[in-house]
Amino acid sequence: MVKEMLITTNDIEEKGFYDADIDPSLDLFAEIERLKKEKNAIILAHLYQEPDIQDIADYIGDSLGLAQKAVKTDADMIVFAGVHFMAEGAKILNPSKKVVIPDLKAGCSLSESCPPPLFKKFREQHPDHIVISYINCSAGIKALSDIICTSSNAKAIVDSLPADQKIIFAPDKNLGAWVNKVTGRDMLLWNGACMVHEIFSVQKITKLKMRHPNAKLISHPECEEPVLKISDFIGSTTQLIAYTKNTPHQEFIVATEAGILHQMVKQAPGKTFIPAPPDNHCACNDCPHMKRNTLEKVYLCMEYEQPEIIMDEDLRLAAKKPLDRMLEISAQLGL
Ligand code: 13P
Ligand code: SF4
Repeated sequence: MVKEMLITTNDIEEKGFYDADIDPSLDLFAEIERLKKEKNAIILAHLYQEPDIQDIADYIGDSLGLAQKAVKTDADMIVFAGVHFMAEGAKILNPSKKVVIPDLKAGCSLSESCPPPLFKKFREQHPDHIVISYINCSAGIKALSDIICTSSNAKAIVDSLPADQKIIFAPDKNLGAWVNKVTGRDMLLWNGACMVHEIFSVQKITKLKMRHPNAKLISHPECEEPVLKISDFIGSTTQLIAYTKNTPHQEFIVATEAGILHQMVKQAPGKTFIPAPPDNHCACNDCPHMKRNTLEKVYLCMEYEQPEIIMDEDLRLAAKKPLDRMLEISAQLGL
């Protein structure tokens, strides 16, 4: 059991349990399974989470799959092993559930790159445009948006709108530019980006491709255009996994967060996955926000039912509308 029992709400808010002292002999997998049953809890995990968390999760998926699962669950408590905007999305969509997150400070550089007051002004400057926002944004941005999308459905959602509809796309300029390219649109792009997907080096990837001529370069659309341009397949995390599993190709250079390799190896054993090299001196494609979550923190947030996502009701309702639109369009399109 947890040795230090004097953890207060203040400690959780300030430290996010970082200093909690867990008995190292504790079988965390067994304890988490026990807590799932006792509390009727479900663990939803994003594909960038560490392998142990993916293995204990009840559902692992991309942002669209996770949002769809959060709506449908009949669990009393949703343990969201992902970053803050994802857990917040679950609370927006299913407010009667208690939603806890292993680390309240698990943020997102992309979401941070779009502050609501600035975006509000930008939107006001373009009153004839509607706003499609990528789900990687705060509730404040969602509340200023007309439709939310994810990387799984961004193209389909844009395609579902009339050809002459003027659109602002926020916050990811790379995903937005890719959607412009594949739909033939000219959406106005907010200048935001993800720190993990912007770091890949085209030069190093090109050299790697020469050393592995049979390897397919597969990339997430949050990557910059020069990387996408030389990619053999582009897709959301779920689409990348499905591609590696279903194609006869055996070798892949993977340009996205490294946590995804765990599922790729599990679902296509025997195939070779090479993380795309970043443009820094550390061969590391980890998202520092996603990786704040640990198995210990999953256990602690279930035991204490904190940190919990609490939201202002007016903000929640305003943010829910564009999320509902996304889910409706996705359901109509069978996504
Ligand atoms: P998807 O899993 O929806 O492809 O999104 C990737 C991502 O950046 C999550 O932070
Ligand atoms: Fe945000 Fe990028 Fe991390 Fe995804 S990988 S949570 S977009 S910083």
